[in-house]
Amino acid sequence: MTLTRRGLLAASAAALLPFPAATATALSNLGQIAKSAGVLFGSAFDREVLSDAHYQRAILQTCRIGAIENSLKFDWLKPRGRDGDYSHADALVAFGQRHGLALKGTALIWNDWTPPWLNALSSREIAAEMDRHIEATMARYAGRIWAWDVVNEPFLPIQGREGGFRKGPWLDAMGTAYIERAYRRAAAADPKATLILNEAFCEQNDDWGNAIRPRFLAFVRRLKDQGVPLNGVGFQGHLKPSLPHDYQQFAAYAAQFAELGLDVHISELDVDDSSFPDDPVQRDRLVAAQITKFMTPVMTVPRLKSICVWHLSDRFSWYRNADWFLEQIRKAGGDPARAPRTHFLDDNLNPKPAWRALEAAFVTAR
Ligand code: XIL
Repeated sequence: MTLTRRGLLAASAAALLPFPAATATALSNLGQIAKSAGVLFGSAFDREVLSDAHYQRAILQTCRIGAIENSLKFDWLKPRGRDGDYSHADALVAFGQRHGLALKGTALIWNDWTPPWLNALSSREIAAEMDRHIEATMARYAGRIWAWDVVNEPFLPIQGREGGFRKGPWLDAMGTAYIERAYRRAAAADPKATLILNEAFCEQNDDWGNAIRPRFLAFVRRLKDQGVPLNGVGFQGHLKPSLPHDYQQFAAYAAQFAELGLDVHISELDVDDSSFPDDPVQRDRLVAAQITKFMTPVMTVPRLKSICVWHLSDRFSWYRNADWFLEQIRKAGGDPARAPRTHFLDDNLNPKPAWRALEAAFVTAR
């Protein structure tokens, strides 16, 4: 028997897989299906996409965009001082480029998770570091990163700061002007990049969501009035079924940003399953129902540009082992040792009901 070239390639690719390829069902090309509904579909990923060949294949088979989950965050690039280590980000950007994935970098400036050395600087030095960081990072990847969350999560009213802004060194050093300044620097550093302002909790009608929504809209309106270079807004979409929500109302809210001339992105979609029963079959059904409930109105939002899931698979669920998340499961009477079923593919990268719910939402919207 002679092996064809294609057969040889398949055989060597299979040898790289951590477990037999046969365990994975063929995945529908969600990226392609979403494209016919007029949106870009993709997932967050980080270094594991380079080492886990099975996951890499799932990403490449289904995604047209990718968000670099952590490796471009300030504290990951610069945990100990000004001189960052860009090697991991470089490898991920090269991977995206090699495979024609449009990449989003998140986040250049975020008041959360800032390293102690930054917090210790004077206000003047922090402002200078912001400029330097934006300029150097964006110039390094100019033309190779499609979009940036220049600022992430500007609001967190529960913290009690004036105007409801999220506290942290950038806000303390520059006041709310840090946001406008960041966008102007970003536009100068890479004029072709898409500049996004990403926010959390807007899709929930609890105290947090209710407090953020009007502030965020009014603030973005002001930025637009002042000619700040901003192309779109991102709504994270970490859905929390146990909190009050009205996704029709959320879609109407998101549409108001489109009216301002901005693109709308759903940037980090997944479902917090902590309030659901332990039984995986029931949980999967409830997670999928939540996706349908959210996606149906969301697909009608004008200027909806992209849907990005915050990982394709439970295998890399960011909820796994997070203390606050285990605590939520405990409070809901569940078993904190259970594996999260918060995503779209299971641990073996087989599609779950949530995958089919996403697919159906794209198909229906075509
Ligand atoms: C999360 C990552 O997924 C985790 O791996 C990391 O430990 C913490 O950050 N909102 C955001 C994302 O804006 O950047 C967060 O990502 C998830 C919540």
